Amino acid sequence: MPDGKRKNEKRSLVSFLQRVFDRIPVGLYRTTPEGKIIHANLSIARMLGYESVEELRKRNLEVEGYEPSYPRQDFKERIEREGSIHGLDAIWRRTDGSFIEVREYAEVVRDETGKVIFYDGAVEDVTDFRNAERAILERERDYSAMLGMFRLLSDNMQDMLWAKDTDKKFIFTNKAICRRLLNANDTSEPIGKTDMFFAERERSAHPEDPEWHTFGEICVDSDSIVLKTREPGQFDEFGNVQGQFMFLDVHKAPLFDENGILKGTVGSARIVTREKELESEQKRSKSELESAYRRLIATQENTLRVMAKLVETRDPYTSGHQERVARLAVAIAREMGLDKDTMEGLRIASLVHDIGKLRVPMEILSKPGHLAPMEMELIKEHSRAGAEIIGEIRFFHPVEEIIYQHHERIDGSGYPQRLKGDDILIEARILAVADVVEAMVANRPYRPALGIDLALEEIKACSGTMFDPEVVKACCGLFESGRFGF
Ligand SMILES: [Fe+2]
Repeated sequence: MPDGKRKNEKRSLVSFLQRVFDRIPVGLYRTTPEGKIIHANLSIARMLGYESVEELRKRNLEVEGYEPSYPRQDFKERIEREGSIHGLDAIWRRTDGSFIEVREYAEVVRDETGKVIFYDGAVEDVTDFRNAERAILERERDYSAMLGMFRLLSDNMQDMLWAKDTDKKFIFTNKAICRRLLNANDTSEPIGKTDMFFAERERSAHPEDPEWHTFGEICVDSDSIVLKTREPGQFDEFGNVQGQFMFLDVHKAPLFDENGILKGTVGSARIVTREKELESEQKRSKSELESAYRRLIATQENTLRVMAKLVETRDPYTSGHQERVARLAVAIAREMGLDKDTMEGLRIASLVHDIGKLRVPMEILSKPGHLAPMEMELIKEHSRAGAEIIGEIRFFHPVEEIIYQHHERIDGSGYPQRLKGDDILIEARILAVADVVEAMVANRPYRPALGIDLALEEIKACSGTMFDPEVVKACCGLFESGRFGF
């Protein structure tokens, strides 16, 4: 090969190697034991924060080292003793004061007498790798701490916790389920086993008692339901565990992995045996109380009717009057849209509104024709007397007041208190109208019956003076629409 061509090829090779030398992402160097940098590539210059190799070469490593964690003297002693260094991890300081983590490979170059003349080395910047490694370690530590915390929380809970795979085998259990339901030795024993394993073990350990463990025998297979529906659910599960009845409030949910693949189920259960017993006792007590209340109401009703009859035996001309007044009063109240409670108070008061006549002498009550003023005063006393008699009974409604006010009139012309307008209870205003209408329609010893049309005409005429116009309107509406008849 001609010399010129050989020279060209050599130049080309040198240029190629120089480019590779500078651009390879590994720092390369040759230094002298005295700290002088003979060769360095651009990668190592940049690793240390220099713009060019020339700048780096101004640095004397003996005077100005870059390894705060690994003194140069140690490096020199080691490489000269061992001849080479493979994978020395170190921290280097850059020109801006920041640090990089490196892994260094180096070997000594000796002259023919064996004296060390150079250190040739290669340096990898492993800062990113180390940071990633530390981040992974950190995550593993966090994960491990979380697992530890989860285990501690689970085992300190009174509620039972577990997870199962799709074959219904446990993959996690806490202490509560092991101790209170499975009778397992520890939380690792159930892993890989189904709850049937433990049920059968309990039964075979107590063959003398078929009721020793019956838990779940007649309950739904809630694992299958959750696996099938892929929805969370609440289940009541019960039966005997270690010879004692146990009722569990169970909550289960499907367990999916991060790709949405169904991996099994998770569950929790709370023992609610005592609560269920109390609930059932409460239901029984409530039913007994309701039955006693119904009997009380029936007794009250009978008592009221006996009382009503008692008055009517002393005043035969008014037979059935109070019963009819009660029906009419309730119908008027309903027409006016009053509530059920008010209607009930009105009904009770109406049924016995004339009970006070028990204190009026028989001869006055049954006397035909007009009464003398004294006799009239005695009759008027029946409102007060009735309230006194009924006041002995503690009704839930203002029965006593209604009876006391049933002869009051809206214009203050009534008795015994001469109350006016809204000072009179609405129930008493209704009873007053019902009482008068019924009385006018019925026969009396001192006059014949007026008939309903005439009675309504009469009472309409008094509307706004003696009687509450609203009540009269409701009463007339009832008869006109044919919704009430005596
Ligand atoms: Fe009366």
